[in-house]
Amino acid sequence: MTVPREVVADAPGRVNLLGEHTDYNDGFVLPMAIPQRTRVTLVLRDDRWVSVHSAQMNDEERSYQLGGERRQGAFVDYVQGVTAMFAEDGHALAGFDLSITSEVPIGGGLSSSAALMVAVARAIRAAFEIDLDDLAIAKLAHRAETGFVGAPVGLLDPIACSLADERHALFVDTRSLALEKVALPESVELVIVDSGIAHDHATGDYRVRRAECTRAAELLSVRALRDVADPAALDALPDPLRARARHVLSENARVHEGVAAMRRGDVARLGQLFLASHASMRDDFAVSTPDVDALVELAAADPAILGARLTGGGFGGAIVALARVGEARAAGERVVEQYRRKTGRPGRLLVPSE
Ligand code: GLA
Repeated sequence: MTVPREVVADAPGRVNLLGEHTDYNDGFVLPMAIPQRTRVTLVLRDDRWVSVHSAQMNDEERSYQLGGERRQGAFVDYVQGVTAMFAEDGHALAGFDLSITSEVPIGGGLSSSAALMVAVARAIRAAFEIDLDDLAIAKLAHRAETGFVGAPVGLLDPIACSLADERHALFVDTRSLALEKVALPESVELVIVDSGIAHDHATGDYRVRRAECTRAAELLSVRALRDVADPAALDALPDPLRARARHVLSENARVHEGVAAMRRGDVARLGQLFLASHASMRDDFAVSTPDVDALVELAAADPAILGARLTGGGFGGAIVALARVGEARAAGERVVEQYRRKTGRPGRLLVPSE
């Protein structure tokens, strides 16, 4: 069989319904795929160069040689990270030209980086006929981001971009990697609005939050915060570690409750859990911003919306809300309009998509 010279692959962005900042604490997450996707076209070359072109990055072009992957502090690092991990796993690649187009907003909390890495890994899998399942692709993308790009993220994003779909939430135990699909009740639809404030998890506050959780687990003598059996144990922690750990414990519990509410079609309860999750991210975990809080408040006040929260790592990004079926678009448009008037920022309705 001849290997194709050109391969097209893609992967979706993701929205997390509940379970934020729980993945690197060995906890539980509940993401879904969004309609926005990242697409890549890979064309094989006869040398060992990789040349990457991104339409989303002002048509920027960057190249490197296989085996000579070095961080450039640019989007090409995600591609380099993926090829470096394939090499680490013993797969011999040849050079290729890669062009990227993406509808997933960068820094919007919807996993633009994992969508890119999963799409690239899928293209490489097909082009070089490598036998790798979707979970293995997620793990490879995770290693690329943590080990090569240097962002200390968890498994949520690559697992969601590699394995989730648009109708089901993917309930994941990030320690055992047990996965279960849970259908979104038919009486609701998601609304996703971008606040217009971009974040970067490779630097700054995300790293601080992660370190705070590691420290809290050390002080409590547990392997990870997921292992704290009794919330009263948190009283022994100094602030702000107590508040950070309280978020992780309560958020893990909300994921379980959310799954149960979805299974029995209790969308009112699911909406309340969204609101409680946002309050916990704002007050205990301190990853929200005033504009994101305003966006959540405007959404929560809308008559068609049952609950809303910040989704993703925070410090900007997007919110996800739960609207009554058939009312999501109108509600989303109302919220964006009010947000623009209130903050002067160009909020954007991402779901329902055009
Ligand atoms: C970012 C990270 C994920 C996860 C979320 C917060 O999206 O990439 O691993 O920690 O933040 O839930």
